[in-house]
Amino acid sequence: MARGQMVLMVVLVGLAVAAAAAASGGRGGRGKSARLQLLPAAPGSSLAERARDDRRRHAYISSRLASSRRRRAAETSLSAPGAVAASAFAMPLSSGAYTGTGQYFVRFRVGTPAQPFVLIADTGSDLTWVKCRGPPPRVFRPGDSKTWSPIPCSSEMCKSSVPFSLANCSSTTDACSYDYRYNDNSAARGVVGTDSATVALSGARSDRKAKLKGVVLGCTTAYDGQGFEVSDGVLSLGYSNISFASRAASRFGGRFSYCLVDHLAPRNATSYLTFGPGPDSASSSASQTPLLLDGRVRPFYAVTVDSISVDGEALDIPSEVWNVGSEGGTIIDSGTSLTVLATPAYKAVVAALTKQLAGLPRVTLDPFDYCYNWTARSGDLDVPKLAVHFAGSARLEPPAKSYVIDAAPGVKCIGVQEGAWPGVSVIGNILQQEHLWEFDLTNRWLRFRQTSCTQ
Ligand SMILES: *[C@@H]1O[C@H](CO)[C@@H](O)[C@H](O)[C@H]1NC(C)=O
Ligand SMILES: *[C@@H]1O[C@H](CO)[C@@H](O)[C@H](O)[C@H]1NC(C)=O
Ligand SMILES: *[C@@H]1O[C@H](CO)[C@@H](O)[C@H](O)[C@H]1NC(C)=O
Ligand SMILES: *[C@@H]1O[C@H](CO)[C@@H](O)[C@H](O)[C@H]1NC(C)=O
Repeated sequence: MARGQMVLMVVLVGLAVAAAAAASGGRGGRGKSARLQLLPAAPGSSLAERARDDRRRHAYISSRLASSRRRRAAETSLSAPGAVAASAFAMPLSSGAYTGTGQYFVRFRVGTPAQPFVLIADTGSDLTWVKCRGPPPRVFRPGDSKTWSPIPCSSEMCKSSVPFSLANCSSTTDACSYDYRYNDNSAARGVVGTDSATVALSGARSDRKAKLKGVVLGCTTAYDGQGFEVSDGVLSLGYSNISFASRAASRFGGRFSYCLVDHLAPRNATSYLTFGPGPDSASSSASQTPLLLDGRVRPFYAVTVDSISVDGEALDIPSEVWNVGSEGGTIIDSGTSLTVLATPAYKAVVAALTKQLAGLPRVTLDPFDYCYNWTARSGDLDVPKLAVHFAGSARLEPPAKSYVIDAAPGVKCIGVQEGAWPGVSVIGNILQQEHLWEFDLTNRWLRFRQTSCTQ
């Protein structure tokens, strides 16, 4: 009898826990999650290529941040209304932002019937787009999708949320289009609409799928950038009300997570981009730090770094370097390979690391400042332990291979690049590898923990 009551109680408590989980799952999410397959970067790209591409990417990030800063300044200053339009610029398709060499890809299905694509997974983008011109079958054909719906250029969404809708709007029924020409003669042109994406639901049955309606999608007819030889476009994971991340997160629990396999892993070593609660998100071993989602850094995800330490010793880095308000700050980016540190932080980090590696013969390898002949290493030389300390006592302790990186046979380089100061620092995807990263957009937390990402 007593045992029966206890079983009943356990069942009731179990139901209550399930109900609470469902309630926190968000509108329509019911605690479910959706998974998209993540693939490592295109094989064969050297670390040196990645480093050069990262510099172009950093220029893109810096110019977007500068433009949001100008726009905010104009918005708060009544005397300069014209400045808003002048600074309403963004480079969603710039060749420098997408090289594909060091970026992760995601399998994405859109349209009805669903058409499959491989897109660059980009936390620094607000517009998802696919190629609409090129060799079939990797081309999106809006006419073949029953659910494609162009957004009119006169709509509020086109005018306020698609910041680069630069083309003419002579008739209110014209499509919301972009026509962007870059200094280097490259161009990006296309129209914006909405369509349905098909996502796999994770859980007991692996074949369950869901349709996500109203995904904002650019259909690009002209593009430039070598990344698009290996990918079909970009999946926007940035913080913006038109990005895929916010659309999917609003349906699946207000959060998304990804796990990046080692950057040298073969292409078949896949992991997942998950919307909704991940299998490990409640893990007590995860560290968490506040996610800064204010207008100054949109669509990027900023975090507050408190300090960086090498072998347990905090480095002497001025605090302004980590302050978004004084033109510093740190963003976490899936589209950058090598971490970029603003000059004062870069100098402190390389000074501490090189002091310990001083016994090794140096090797010259452009564009790196510090490379070593690793075959000449005596057995017991350890790479010093680097740790990034975030606000809220969250500590990232990457494995040595994530910052003293294989660059050529027998050669390792300090895989951190110098960024201009004042300027933003960027935590790249190699420093993020072999960790699960969860972006909780509702509660504004970034959680992470170490894992091999193979499941
Ligand atoms: C926009 O309109 C102007 C004048 O009406 C025209 O000269 C220009 O070519 C148009 N641009 C595009 C991209 O259609
Ligand atoms: C998106 O946000 C902008 C302001 O950042 C707002 O003007 C616009 O109405 C929003 N659009 C949607 C579709 O929520
Ligand atoms: C990936 O492919 C290689 C051969 O190319 C194979 O040896 C390996 O087992 C595969 N790994 C996975 C996870 O499928
Ligand atoms: C590294 O040093 C070894 C000798 O210890 C030498 O044979 C090799 O060529 C050197 N490698 C490079 C890349 O300099």
